[in-house]
Amino acid sequence: NYLTPKMIEVLDKITVSTLPKHKSWIKHPLYKYEGFWFHQGFWFHSEASFTVEVAMALQDKFVAQPTNVFLASYPKSGTTWLKALAFAIVNRTMFKGSNPQHPLLTTNPHYCVPFIDTEAFLTNPSNTNDLLATHLPYTILPKSVITSDCRIVYICRNPKDVFISFWHFVNEILRDDLSPEMNLEDAFELFSKGVTSNGSCWDHVVGYRKASIERPDKVLFLNYEKMKEDPKSEVKKLASFIGHPFKEGEEGDGEMEEIIKLCSFKKLREVNKANKDGHKVIPNDVYFRKGEVGDAVNYLTTEMIEILDKITLEKYNGLDIAF
Ligand code: A3P
Repeated sequence: NYLTPKMIEVLDKITVSTLPKHKSWIKHPLYKYEGFWFHQGFWFHSEASFTVEVAMALQDKFVAQPTNVFLASYPKSGTTWLKALAFAIVNRTMFKGSNPQHPLLTTNPHYCVPFIDTEAFLTNPSNTNDLLATHLPYTILPKSVITSDCRIVYICRNPKDVFISFWHFVNEILRDDLSPEMNLEDAFELFSKGVTSNGSCWDHVVGYRKASIERPDKVLFLNYEKMKEDPKSEVKKLASFIGHPFKEGEEGDGEMEEIIKLCSFKKLREVNKANKDGHKVIPNDVYFRKGEVGDAVNYLTTEMIEILDKITLEKYNGLDIAF
């Protein structure tokens, strides 16, 4: 009620400058805020996205609606796929999966379901989407997401594949002219220490996994590998959880299969490869690299695999997370 936006900005900057700091995969350092690492300022193609300031601002200002459904993930765990599926499920009375006019045939899933942890979202208070996404760790979510009893769907993926997917993404997209290419060994060192944007990856997963055990009616925990293996049962679970269950008839007429096909890696990749001009800073097709389970073994040494497996085993102990 008293401070001007400029004053708030200056004070936030001072707060951030007192946080523990660490070098990252790119030239911009990471800052540790409430146990997790974030970039600061306009690091991402001049946009303040997934930053510590945005996290603070959301904690301060964001008011969730009970009708909101949050799609949460650690980056490179299958966020784009989950966004596409949830969007197609929720909008299927208007657009059947087989509809040649389906928005997913022309629009990248990231435009269909916005991230809240971006400057673009913060500066657009008129956003009325029920479906929203976030990379924020569970314990850093704005309080109203929990107190409003919003539903949260989390997607988790084997950390080895997350690491390799993230490493490619950073080198291809997030790196700018001033950030040299990050070799695999240096990236591995930081990833395994948990020093990555929104990381550690393991602590991110653990937060949501514990929440899904404590509040199963509010937090659904999905797994990329299981979705690849048995998409029907996972998509059915997802649809019921977000309040749009497939009815008997729909199953009979193949609507679920149509949605799975529309949101498949092959289809989305084809659509987004063709459509290059949708996104301001990131080409539409970069979210579709290989879409495979276990690709990490093609890059990691035996020793790296052992180290990551050991961390995973220790961190996920007793939490029933299988890949
Ligand atoms: P790879 O780099 O291993 O191919 P995110 O969406 O969280 O950024 O994750 C990106 C990863 O999900 C990439 O993994 C990408 O190829 C994969 N992906 C994207 N769309 C997919 C889909 N429809 N089905 C399966 N995997 C998909």
